Amino acid sequence: VSNSEEWDEMTSGNGTIVGLFGSGGFAREIMPLLRAQVLRAGIAPLEDIVFVDREPGPDLVNGHKVMGEDEFFAAPHPRKLMNVAVGDGRLREKIWNAAVARGAEPFTIQSDRADMLDGNDLGAGGVYGHFTMVTSNARIGKGFQCNLYSYVAHDCVIGDFVTFAPGVKCNGNVEIADYAYIGTGAILRQGTPEKPLRIGRGAVVGMGAVVTKDVPDGVTVVGNPARPMEGR
Ligand SMILES: CC(C)(COP(=O)(O)OP(=O)(O)OC[C@H]1O[C@@H](n2cnc3c(N)ncnc32)[C@H](O)[C@@H]1OP(=O)(O)O)[C@@H](O)C(=O)NCCC(=O)NCCS
Repeated sequence: VSNSEEWDEMTSGNGTIVGLFGSGGFAREIMPLLRAQVLRAGIAPLEDIVFVDREPGPDLVNGHKVMGEDEFFAAPHPRKLMNVAVGDGRLREKIWNAAVARGAEPFTIQSDRADMLDGNDLGAGGVYGHFTMVTSNARIGKGFQCNLYSYVAHDCVIGDFVTFAPGVKCNGNVEIADYAYIGTGAILRQGTPEKPLRIGRGAVVGMGAVVTKDVPDGVTVVGNPARPMEGR
């Protein structure tokens, strides 16, 4: 390298920093996916892929810098990409909106072992973990988390800030409203084009549930066949 300007250019990356909001267990699980994707596509150098937390935490987590929110937004990079690794859909939306208001752009994390088939319409800022699949003609809102080994089958319609824990089997023609949470290993029976199976807004499907009927807004169901939990 012949002069210091060139050296600065090389070492300051390309002007993009990528922040993963949250540094809990899920954030630590998806950081390797984000890192591989960002480096593969040449979006930002390793040192500009960071965890972002409310407050600055330990200096490094699994080799990545942990920045406080203010530090992230004060970084000199003109382009700030972000994803929010928080399982609660409503909290995820709150953090997302605050980050977008400060100039960050949502970035979808997609494992190189995730499969997207035909004609899907995927919203911004999703997470598609290892061994996930969206088959064909699904419509998915923003901030969807599709945790490892989960699938979304044909013609499903998924709202905003919906969360799938690992291993969710969401069969065809299922509609899931905003903020719903589907627990690990749940099975959602297929609907039909005329009568999709519907999971309500903010509903919770417990781990291992076998859902054969619509779930109303805000209701928690468990068991096989899934029934509302006592007192919910
Ligand atoms: C359904 C769920 C939300 C309820 O949580 P909760 O309100 O804290 O419920 P509790 O743990 O107090 O359990 C209440 C009762 O329901 C039972 N129960 C809890 N979850 C159940 C489930 N998924 N299926 C069947 N029964 C369940 C408990 O055994 C307990 O029974 P008891 O009253 O006879 O002792 C939760 O258990 C669940 O399934 N969460 C999803 C977990 C998950 O997928 N995690 C993935 C992390 S990535």
